[in-house]
Amino acid sequence: MGQVPVYLFIGNGRVSRHLQHYFQHLKLEFRVWSRQQHRPLPLEGVTHVLLSISDDSIVPFLLDHPELSPLKLIHFSGSLSTPLAWGAHPLMTFSHELYPIEAYREIHFVIDHDSPEFSDLLPGLPNPHHRLSTELKARYHAECVLSGNFTSMLWDHFFQVMEKQLGLPRQAALPYLRQITHNLQHQVNPLTGPLVRGDQATVDRNLKALEGDPYQGVYTSFVTAYRAV
Ligand SMILES: NC(=O)c1ccc[n+]([C@@H]2O[C@H](COP(=O)([O-])OP(=O)(O)OC[C@H]3O[C@@H](n4cnc5c(N)ncnc54)[C@H](OP(=O)(O)O)[C@@H]3O)[C@@H](O)[C@H]2O)c1
Repeated sequence: MGQVPVYLFIGNGRVSRHLQHYFQHLKLEFRVWSRQQHRPLPLEGVTHVLLSISDDSIVPFLLDHPELSPLKLIHFSGSLSTPLAWGAHPLMTFSHELYPIEAYREIHFVIDHDSPEFSDLLPGLPNPHHRLSTELKARYHAECVLSGNFTSMLWDHFFQVMEKQLGLPRQAALPYLRQITHNLQHQVNPLTGPLVRGDQATVDRNLKALEGDPYQGVYTSFVTAYRAV
């Protein structure tokens, strides 16, 4: 039997709190350190350090804490590659609310191409994983942000306009959102709308209606991207 891991979460933000919830369910031993606590790192017995802090803080934090270097060091950033810690990006969005355990089990971890075995990196986690060349990480993460974060921005914008400008309840848009998500998962060509139909007059009307809205430029960029690919 291998060594029983003892994890230390650095940071107590979104990813940290979600993974703590999952680790608790998996009965994995862990500690949590956050800079808010103003105390030394509780390193006794720790085997794996999980740097659950903002991307830009990971390298400076490790340089400030050379005492961590003998331990297995893991960060969760999708775009950062550093020789100081192994990357294990959970391909998921973690908001302020916790999810049902099943949601955590499904998460795929994208690990560095040259990292140790997943079972050494995150022992006790039954999750699927994939290796990715560190040279491709920046592109991979740009696609995550485009597809996940930016669609969230678009939908949030839609809900705000529905409620505040059009006097329509956001619930009215939920079946539309659900079907779009379903079509994306199950159909080869899920896109519908004026771009697909070639209805240029509709596109022009849409753009005119968005005058003064910062999302007019977003619409224009999508038209350009659609035509280019
Ligand atoms: N959220 C997601 O959907 C998601 C998905 C995949 C991967 N990730 C990755 O997970 C990591 C954490 O992201 P997050 O969304 O959980 O961030 P977050 O909710 O903003 O939490 C960031 C945490 O980092 C701490 N922190 C920041 N700078 C620090 C420093 N210099 N020293 C010590 N602690 C510091 C903050 O502490 P204070 O509370 O004291 O400010 C906070 O606890 C990032 O690498 C991110 O790329 C996030």
